[in-house]
Amino acid sequence: MKSTRSRSYSLLSILFTALLLPNPSSSTNRHVINFRSPALYPEGLTWDPAGQHFLVGSLHTRTIHSVSDAGVVQTLISDPYLPENATILGITVDSSNRRLLAAIHCLPPLPPCSALAAYDLRTGGGGGRIFLSPLPSLPGNDEIVRDVANDVAVDYNGNAYVTNSAKNFIWKVSRDGTAAIFSRSPLFNSQPVAADADASFRDSGLNGIVYNSKGYLLVVQSNTGKMFKVDEETGTARMVVLNGDMVAADGVARRRRDGTVVVVSQRKLWFVKSHDSWGEGVIYDEVELDVEGFPTAVTVAARDRVYVLYGRVMEGIMGSYGEGGEREWFGIEEVLSEKESGEDKIWIYVLVGLGFAYFCFWRFQMKNLITNMDKKTT
Ligand SMILES: *[C@@H]1O[C@H](CO)[C@@H](O)[C@H](O)[C@H]1NC(C)=O
Repeated sequence: MKSTRSRSYSLLSILFTALLLPNPSSSTNRHVINFRSPALYPEGLTWDPAGQHFLVGSLHTRTIHSVSDAGVVQTLISDPYLPENATILGITVDSSNRRLLAAIHCLPPLPPCSALAAYDLRTGGGGGRIFLSPLPSLPGNDEIVRDVANDVAVDYNGNAYVTNSAKNFIWKVSRDGTAAIFSRSPLFNSQPVAADADASFRDSGLNGIVYNSKGYLLVVQSNTGKMFKVDEETGTARMVVLNGDMVAADGVARRRRDGTVVVVSQRKLWFVKSHDSWGEGVIYDEVELDVEGFPTAVTVAARDRVYVLYGRVMEGIMGSYGEGGEREWFGIEEVLSEKESGEDKIWIYVLVGLGFAYFCFWRFQMKNLITNMDKKTT
């Protein structure tokens, strides 16, 4: 009898502990990394799963750096072969080949330069450049408006796909560095520019790009807020039907667990999912971001956690820093979906409910057993 009671108490205490445990995804536990790298103004962010650190590019110094969970910065790549003051835009890790791919752009007044650079991560960085491939312009179209190699995604064979946000097309760069124009779907020019598009993204078309192993790429378009699904073989595109426009969409990332896609703009982060391989998608949550930090990139790190980069790029481009000179500190911050943590909580209640039902059932049985034993002994 005594042991029965103490067991029931211990079961109850386990249930209550489960209830009182801090929810790991509550907003108070959001992971915030501040890191110091004078005048870096990074635009691109990615996660390196093998190195277990973030990677960020530089606005003007031709360098790529790793940033640890604790904010320790190390220079991974320093490439004096890139044009002086060239900008590193989108970066991504090719895990199958242990490479880092970087979209290179030259802002005015520099002469135009659009290229994809590939670096060997096996050597632990240190400048092991594999190739630097110039990206071809459309015939007779390169002088008036310069190309912008904005973001890059990679497939499992090491082929890279680079968006040209100025001209609304996608390049493909093979594993050996051969570059060609890959997708010029008329759909990319079929949608109206959003009425509220301001100067910062009015001329920015195809931007963030992410690869899906089912044979396609997802690409977002800043000035229309649309998303496209692009076939990896043919380059043909379809527009993803969404319950809203993601105006000013910039970087994109994909979570491994459920294939959810996160899209960042300077104002917010959208959480998008699809049940039919991106014929249609649903924006199921949007989280306000710190506009001052000028978020431009999003990545998915260990355990599918979502992080945005506060690189304050516009301040670096405009030179609009205060008296103290160029900024030294930048941020990488985790973003949580309230809706998802809500779902987590529901799961806890369901588990507790089940546990309690089981406990009642077990007590009922115990009672019967004891009654029966009492009957027998008397
Ligand atoms: C690169 O930037 C520095 C600092 O702003 C400037 O002095 C230099 O002239 C620039 N180089 C080129 C090639 O524009």
